[in-house]
Amino acid sequence: MKNIREYLKDTTITQWALGHFNFSENEALRAIIESAAGLKVPIFVGTSEGERKHLGIKEVVALVKAFREEFEIPIFLNADHHKSFETVKEAVDAGYDAILADFSALPFEENIKLTKQSVEYAKSKNPDILVEGELGYVRGESKIQEVIEIKQEDLTKPEEASQFVRETGIDMLAPAVGNIHGIVTKSKESIDVSRISDIKKAVGENVFLVLHGGSGMSESDFKNAIDAGISMVHINTEIRVAFTEELRKTLREMPEETTPYKILAPSVEAMKKVIEEKLKIFGSVNKL
Ligand code: G3H
Ligand code: ZN
Repeated sequence: MKNIREYLKDTTITQWALGHFNFSENEALRAIIESAAGLKVPIFVGTSEGERKHLGIKEVVALVKAFREEFEIPIFLNADHHKSFETVKEAVDAGYDAILADFSALPFEENIKLTKQSVEYAKSKNPDILVEGELGYVRGESKIQEVIEIKQEDLTKPEEASQFVRETGIDMLAPAVGNIHGIVTKSKESIDVSRISDIKKAVGENVFLVLHGGSGMSESDFKNAIDAGISMVHINTEIRVAFTEELRKTLREMPEETTPYKILAPSVEAMKKVIEEKLKIFGSVNKL
């Protein structure tokens, strides 16, 4: 099995992408790992600050360790969208394999300063850790929304991306390229593929691009984005929707049932269906 950097490097040589899926409880994590193991896929699992708080940071790390031992596939744990130096530090200290130090809401210079500080702290504690930064404005939240309007000024500029990676020392960059977090029902997401190519050229071959907000994107958007230089795709909302829709259905169909694992089992299967479909689109099957 390759290490985390070797997998990332490989994505740029044969054009595929690692899948990154969020979880906040055991069922989603099991669905992600079982899907990845079945398809022989190296996988990223991630917790945002809220997701991590729900499960407990120690519990997150311990659960992932247990799944690694059980399934014997590469499972990388990412601290997703960590928005303060304090929470970044907690994730590094807890043993996460990667962190997204997300200071994209701050002015450019402030974003550089705090991202650089996160890189320095993370690498001093664990030289193998991967640090991702975010530049540009990826709008939306991981839920169903009606309309999200993307403005031209939200998008990442290749020349700023080049300066950002040079000054911060990050390993991965999350750009804003027309992507949004969540699913929109009354507008359409459209990815600026040539901007991805330009950003990839600007950041160079050793900095890997991460596409956030994968829910609601079309198969052709994914394929074009990956061909243009995306190495990892994040999915959250579609798994949340699969979980809750199936749970509502189960509760309607089995109103007398009170055993939690029986109520939750169909939701695990529903999430697995979504995850397996995405992993096939990303071209990551049999990449162990
Ligand atoms: O960081 C999380 C992802 O970017 C998820 O986005 O909810 O649109 O799938 P999504
Ligand atoms: Zn994201």
